[in-house]
Amino acid sequence: MFSFETNKIAGAILGSLLLAMGLGVIGQMIFSHPALKTPGFNLPALAEGGESGGAPAAEAVASLPERLAKADVKRGESLTKACQACHSFEKGGAAKVGPPLFGVVGRPKDSIAGFGYSDAMKAKGGAWTFDDLDHFIASPKGFISGTKMGFAGEPDPQKRADIIAYLRTLSDSPVPLPAPGK
Ligand code: HEC
Repeated sequence: MFSFETNKIAGAILGSLLLAMGLGVIGQMIFSHPALKTPGFNLPALAEGGESGGAPAAEAVASLPERLAKADVKRGESLTKACQACHSFEKGGAAKVGPPLFGVVGRPKDSIAGFGYSDAMKAKGGAWTFDDLDHFIASPKGFISGTKMGFAGEPDPQKRADIIAYLRTLSDSPVPLPAPGK
């Protein structure tokens, strides 16, 4: 018959079973998922008539004129701390690792006399338009493969616009901003 010992063992087994069941219930409470309404993944929607013919809508970027129109010059100035190790920004500033950037907007590329520009920069030619600056600051080597500007790039489109809006002010007669909506 059931001895005191057997009772204890049965009790222990029952106890562990209850514990296991309890853990199972709690586990389900923690890890259960709400039922999916429609099975499958949500794929990013395609941009309608996007410039690059179907970039994901989530990455749609406002045009540079639009970004410049709402740019924050002060924020741009503080963002150029990342550039100051290599560039001076004041009028008459000297070359450092990179050429001085006062008046860079609208100025021809590689135009600082005596600065040792890379061959890639010399080959690029043309003036520093807002657009070119946007591409160059986004990815220096992506825009001018072979540039010796050792800066990884600023991926945030609005931050780039802020920087460019600040660069634009570094001039005695700033180049007019491009009209938004163009
Ligand atoms: C590690 C140093 C370094 C940093 C950081 C750096 N640059 Fe430069 N930058 C250079 C060098 C070197 C060149 C010359 C590139 C060449 O000749 O290929 C250059 C060239 C440029 C030019 C072209 C100037 C001209 O006279 O044609 C622009 C514009 C420019 N940098 C903007 C920036 C901005 C804006 C930042 C910060 C967001 C920045 N750079 C950060 C080193 C740097």
